[in-house]
Amino acid sequence: MKLLLLSLLFICTTFALAKKPTGRIVDCDSPEANDAALEALHFINANHHHGYKFVVNQVEDIHVLPETVNGEIFYVELDLLESKCPWVSPTPAENCPVRPRAEQAVEGDCKIKLQKQNGNFTVLGVSCKSKPDSAENVFRACSSCPLLAPLNDTQVVHAVDVALLGFNNGNNTVYYKLHEIGRAQIQGPANNKVQVEFVIAASNCSNENAALDSCVALTGEGAHYGSCAGSVTKLPEAQDEELDMQCTVYEPQPPQVDQTGVPSIGVPAQPLVVHGHFHHNLRHSSLGPHSSESNSAEKLLLHLHQAKSAVKRSLFGKHSGPNALRPRCPGKKIFF
Ligand SMILES: *[C@@H]1O[C@H](CO)[C@@H](O)[C@H](O)[C@H]1NC(C)=O
Ligand SMILES: *[C@@H]1O[C@H](CO)[C@@H](O)[C@H](O)[C@H]1NC(C)=O
Ligand SMILES: *[C@@H]1O[C@H](CO)[C@@H](O)[C@H](O)[C@H]1NC(C)=O
Ligand SMILES: *[C@@H]1O[C@H](CO)[C@@H](O)[C@H](O)[C@H]1NC(C)=O
Repeated sequence: MKLLLLSLLFICTTFALAKKPTGRIVDCDSPEANDAALEALHFINANHHHGYKFVVNQVEDIHVLPETVNGEIFYVELDLLESKCPWVSPTPAENCPVRPRAEQAVEGDCKIKLQKQNGNFTVLGVSCKSKPDSAENVFRACSSCPLLAPLNDTQVVHAVDVALLGFNNGNNTVYYKLHEIGRAQIQGPANNKVQVEFVIAASNCSNENAALDSCVALTGEGAHYGSCAGSVTKLPEAQDEELDMQCTVYEPQPPQVDQTGVPSIGVPAQPLVVHGHFHHNLRHSSLGPHSSESNSAEKLLLHLHQAKSAVKRSLFGKHSGPNALRPRCPGKKIFF
C-alpha cells in the first residue's frame, strides 16, 4: 500500500514536471556557451580591480531556463585562469598569456546568471572565488620552482621598495608610488632571489621635487598606472643587491562603462592591503552591484542544480533517449 502510494506520488510528480516546459539544452562547447562565457568574463575583468585579468579555461556547466517575455535565463559555471596581464593593463584579456603552471597558476571558479534577450547577454549575478594551484602541480611542472610567497612578507616588501626606488631613479619625470603588489616568489636555498610583480601609480609629484610623504597617487581622469616585474638578488659576499627589473607605463585608460552605466576601469581603485594572502582572491573583489546577497555562490549553485534536475526529470518523463538530449558538459579545457 505504502509502496503504491509512493509510486503514485512519484508518477504524479514526474507528470507535473514533464508538462512544465524546460529550457533548451546548450552544450558547454557550443558557440552560444562561448558567447555567454565571454560576456561573463568581460564583466568579471571590468569589475575586478586587483591583481590580474582572467581568461576562460573551461565552461564547466550551463543551464537555460524556459523563455519568458524577458528572454531566457542562463546559469553558467566557469573555470578561469589568471593571465599575466595586470588589471591596469590595456591589453584585452583574449590577448593575455596565461600564467604557466611552473609559476603557480591561479584558478578562478565563477557562477554567473545571465539573461539572453534578442541575442544579447546581460550579466545578472556573479559569484567567484580563486585559489593558487597546488604545490604538487607546480613541482610536477618544474621541480625547482618556488611557490607564491605572502604578499606582505618582509623580503617581498623590501624587494618592491628596492625595485620602485630603482624605477624612480631612472629617466622619469613623474614620481610613481606603489599601488599594489601582484605576486611574489622567493627563490634559492638562502632565499637570495626575490621575484616580484607590482603595479605603480603616477603621483602628483615630479621626480626631482618629490617631498615623498606628501605625494599622492593621481586619481580619476589623471590616473596613470604602470606595472613592474623583476627580481632583487642578494649578492653572497656583499651587502649589495642586484636589481633586474622591467616596468611598463600604460597610457591613461579611457574609463570603461560597464552595462550598469558605472565606470569601471579608469576609476581609482583603493590599494588593497593584503595581509597574509598569496594572491588577489576574486572572492574579495566587489564584482559590481550584481554580486549582492541574493546572488551568493550558494544561491547561484542551487539555481544551477535546480535547472539541471528539472531538465533531467523532464527527459525521464518523456521517456526519450536520455543521452542524446543531455548537454555535453563540462566543455573542453582550453589551457590545462
Ligand atoms: C543587441 O546588441 C546589438 C549589437 O550590440 C545592438 O545593436 C542591439 O540593439 C542589441 N539588442 C538589444 C535588445 O539590446
Ligand atoms: C629620457 O627621456 C626623454 C623623454 O622621453 C628622452 O628624450 C631621453 O632620450 C631619455 N634619456 C635617456 C638617457 O634615456
Ligand atoms: C600632492 O597632493 C597632496 C595632497 O593633496 C599635497 O599635500 C601635496 O602638496 C601635493 N604635492 C605636490 C608636489 O603638488
Ligand atoms: C602578514 O599578514 C599576516 C596575517 O595578517 C600576519 O600574521 C603576518 O604577521 C604578516 N607578516 C608580516 C611580515 O607583516
